[in-house]
Amino acid sequence: MEPLVDPFGRRIEYLRISVTDRCDLRCKYCIPEGFHGFEEPGHWLGFDEMERLVRLFARLGLRRVRLTGGEPLLRRGIEELAGRIAGVPGIEDLSLSTNATQLARHAQGLRAAGVTRLNVSLDSLRPERIERINGRPVFDKIMAGIQAAKAAGFAPIKINMVALAGENDDEIDAMVAWCMEQGFVLRLIENMPMGDTARHVRYLDLQPVKEQLRSRFGLVDTVLPGGGPARYLGTPDGRFTVGFITPISQHFCATCNRVRLTVDGVLHLCLGQEDRFEFRPLLRGGASDEEIVAAIHAAIAKKPERHEFREQPQKLVRFMNMTGG
Ligand code: GTP
Ligand code: 5AD
Ligand code: SF4
Repeated sequence: MEPLVDPFGRRIEYLRISVTDRCDLRCKYCIPEGFHGFEEPGHWLGFDEMERLVRLFARLGLRRVRLTGGEPLLRRGIEELAGRIAGVPGIEDLSLSTNATQLARHAQGLRAAGVTRLNVSLDSLRPERIERINGRPVFDKIMAGIQAAKAAGFAPIKINMVALAGENDDEIDAMVAWCMEQGFVLRLIENMPMGDTARHVRYLDLQPVKEQLRSRFGLVDTVLPGGGPARYLGTPDGRFTVGFITPISQHFCATCNRVRLTVDGVLHLCLGQEDRFEFRPLLRGGASDEEIVAAIHAAIAKKPERHEFREQPQKLVRFMNMTGG
């Protein structure tokens, strides 16, 4: 079958599936406190529906799947879903992004199910700041989750820190030191203006941070396995790596290889645009595999060239928890 290539010649081989839009946290750059707009359970895709879509995508060359949320560990039976997706022929890389509050209970099961890589959000090493930035007093739970992931043998574990001017930018050095000591890959992320919440948070330009870290630790450009947009620097001995995800200061859309499925069965063609394609009506309306494959091609044909977070920061009303980053 024909592989998926978008109108800009980009090969699409990575699907991010948001398995729930719910979350137990209220990060400043994500879900607003008091949010009520969650998707109704009747619209949630079931595991059969998700697996079917992954199988059909995989026939078209999909190789990587990442499970996201909201918080993916809140979706009941997440290990079962992971196992089913890991078993789809053609899928070589199954990863998951989590806030780690529930990870202590799930780490071993996820690994046994075939999740190969874990990315964990952690914006601070100070309990009171976690409460302030992430909205709940969950520092101890997160730490327990991260240690459980380490004990379960996940390697590398990537730590995602959204760098926020005036909130946690004074902690970058501490985070580098901690990740070095623990053997984690650190990733610094520029905040994207998704929905009203994230628009009111000040992003930190990571280019100067990158150059400072490069010279201070003698870091050199390096690459890591993974399909994402991070640009990496590492120590020459390869023991420590830090990634920079810079949608605002230096975007990476030219090499985009991904699309996103939301829990209600909508395929989003770009994180920063509204272009979308509804699969739920097809899945629930008796569409054949051939019809769904044709729909996947039609959707990919609508993938836009790039986001416009810089030029049009007001554009996206959708909150990050719908698409999971
Ligand atoms: P790897 O496969 O490990 O490289 O994962 P990843 O970095 O793609 O995934 P993760 O869920 O850890 O996301 C880290 C950050 O990158 C989040 O802030 C995401 O929103 C952001 N991100 C991931 N993909 C894209 C993308 O296509 N465009 C933009 N603008 N940001 C992205
Ligand atoms: N900008 C950038 N990254 C974000 N994330 C959540 N919201 C935003 C935002 N507005 C990150 C989380 C998580 C990853 C999947 O997406 O911190 O690590
Ligand atoms: Fe939840 Fe992740 Fe959004 Fe934070 S960034 S509120 S952990 S979905």
